Amino acid sequence: MAPISIPTRTLNDGHEMPWLGLGTYPAKGRQLVDAILAAVETGYRLLDTAYNYGNEDAVGTAIRESGLPREEFFVTSKLAGRHQGKPYVREGFTASLDRLGLDYVDLYLIHWPLPRVGRYVESYAEMVALREEGLIRSIGVSNFLDEHIRAVVDATSVVPAVDQLQVSPTHAQVGVVDEVSRHGTVVQAWSPLERNSGILEHPTVTAIAARLGVAPSQVVLRWLVERGITTVPASTNPERQRLNADIFGFSLEPADVAAVTAVDVGKPVKQDPRTWEEF
Ligand SMILES: NC(=O)c1ccc[n+]([C@@H]2O[C@H](COP(=O)([O-])OP(=O)(O)OC[C@H]3O[C@@H](n4cnc5c(N)ncnc54)[C@H](OP(=O)(O)O)[C@@H]3O)[C@@H](O)[C@H]2O)c1
Repeated sequence: MAPISIPTRTLNDGHEMPWLGLGTYPAKGRQLVDAILAAVETGYRLLDTAYNYGNEDAVGTAIRESGLPREEFFVTSKLAGRHQGKPYVREGFTASLDRLGLDYVDLYLIHWPLPRVGRYVESYAEMVALREEGLIRSIGVSNFLDEHIRAVVDATSVVPAVDQLQVSPTHAQVGVVDEVSRHGTVVQAWSPLERNSGILEHPTVTAIAARLGVAPSQVVLRWLVERGITTVPASTNPERQRLNADIFGFSLEPADVAAVTAVDVGKPVKQDPRTWEEF
């Protein structure tokens, strides 16, 4: 089958990032290598990994086995909580680079702000230094709210290129997405399909899907795009990978976007960035 052409989005530092990439958590090892190779054939180029996923080695192996030049890929990894703090950022970053077997990453994110620990601003400043050395192309954050973005911008004058946040119909995050976007930071949704825990059977989503002749997962992912949100759905299944990437040939009317947004009835996220801690 012909590959799908996934469009790119220009980040605030001038780099191009695909609108949609492959989430890799929690797959590992040969299963993940094979899943990535299938995704690459389908047209995926953005691969989302993290130190804490324990699978950066498989991402690197897949890139080499694909036979495509390194520059074709957009590789994202993330600084773990254990590596926050000026003395540890370089160590954590270098460990990721070694596991990937690469000499730079396209995007490096602070995985969680961990505000109680209080080290995300100094960690971000260290990442700015790594970018100046050419080891990181774009600097971003993950699970950062407006207050956390303000703190890093005040300290460094570098606006994060990307903020990877939990966004899905149940957690539409309208206010947070607006605040983050106002900085000029591109929002990237994690768990966009809510790990297939029911949203794909929601009557609002299935009704729109039936009317448009697309899959429920495509309605959810296209709803993000209509809102200006990029995303990294995970699938190890080649058919579902293709379905998830095939969302650039149709659009949703504003009324359908509003209907999916209204699925959110205010249930709070389990992992609140103000209090969530993982290391
Ligand atoms: N920054 C953060 O704090 C953070 C947190 C969580 C996740 N992430 C990143 O975001 C990525 C995506 O989030 P996620 O993995 O939590 O959730 P997700 O992408 O919402 O859901 C993935 C699950 O849905 C299934 N699935 C995928 N496409 C489907 C489809 N079209 N129809 C039915 N089921 C489908 C997959 O199963 P199959 O594999 O069997 O298709 C997998 O079990 C992660 O892999 C990770 O890279 C980041």
